[in-house]
Amino acid sequence: MSKLKNKVAVITGGNSGIGFGIAEAFKNEGAVGAIVGRNQETLNSAVAQLGDNFIAINADVTNLADLERVFKETAEKFGKIDLIVANAGGGAVGTVATLGEADFDKTIDLNLKSVYFTVNKGLPYMNDGGSIILIGSNAAHRAYPNFTLYGAAKAAVIHFAKGFSSDLLDRKIRVNVITPGTTDTPAFEKFVPAEQIEAIKKHFASEMPTGRIGQPADIGKAAVFLASDDSSFMLGAELLVDGGMTYLSK
Ligand SMILES: NC(=O)c1ccc[n+]([C@@H]2O[C@H](COP(=O)([O-])OP(=O)(O)OC[C@H]3O[C@@H](n4cnc5c(N)ncnc54)[C@H](OP(=O)(O)O)[C@@H]3O)[C@@H](O)[C@H]2O)c1
Repeated sequence: MSKLKNKVAVITGGNSGIGFGIAEAFKNEGAVGAIVGRNQETLNSAVAQLGDNFIAINADVTNLADLERVFKETAEKFGKIDLIVANAGGGAVGTVATLGEADFDKTIDLNLKSVYFTVNKGLPYMNDGGSIILIGSNAAHRAYPNFTLYGAAKAAVIHFAKGFSSDLLDRKIRVNVITPGTTDTPAFEKFVPAEQIEAIKKHFASEMPTGRIGQPADIGKAAVFLASDDSSFMLGAELLVDGGMTYLSK
């Protein structure tokens, strides 16, 4: 298992859920590098599981100076970067009637502005020929109540994969986006009272064409494909890893 042998990766939000699933999949294919988040406890536990070839960097992806530090520190430790995964995200939940300017700014800062600047700040430290993976959401394609702002930000992230690929043709850096459907991660804890989490997950699973929600490992496998030469003819593309929930009715 060495599709990413010695490739240097930076994975934002690599201390939880989908980001950790991607970090584990990268590690299993021989990659080294950094995971990025703000929660020191989960950073410590995640990096302990990933082993000596990964470091944890405590940084806020909405802060440009933090992002600069992330890439500088990673390049100093491992050399130039081959793979960037802009995964950190999440959203304020509410409707156009309830979310005001502060929620708007927060949601766009985290889900859109941070993606732009993760790439913008990473590029000077990146090898030509590298691969950048953005994490979208099927909320970009369907209107779910209370996820309008988040869905709009993710729709723009899907455009970023095309635009960035076009911008970076001369450097042969490919940018693609993975669109997860409902995935079993600690994000549920942010939106659902603890005692309701299992029931909500069961409900989502029953609504899925596949009869189950996604696991971080499902997204990890797709990320390895987009990071490796197996996808060398793909750029500006969207890979739906959603158990069919976006386009299939049940
Ligand atoms: N789970 C789903 O059903 C689902 C579906 C579609 C798309 N997605 C997308 O998948 C990505 C990962 O979500 P998840 O479900 O794995 O959620 P999660 O378990 O809550 O993980 C979110 C990650 O983002 C990091 N993060 C959040 N804000 C940050 C900030 N300002 N600076 C640095 N790191 C930050 C968190 O780390 P800290 O808390 O340590 O900062 C955490 O590692 C997100 O972009 C999400 O929108 C998820």
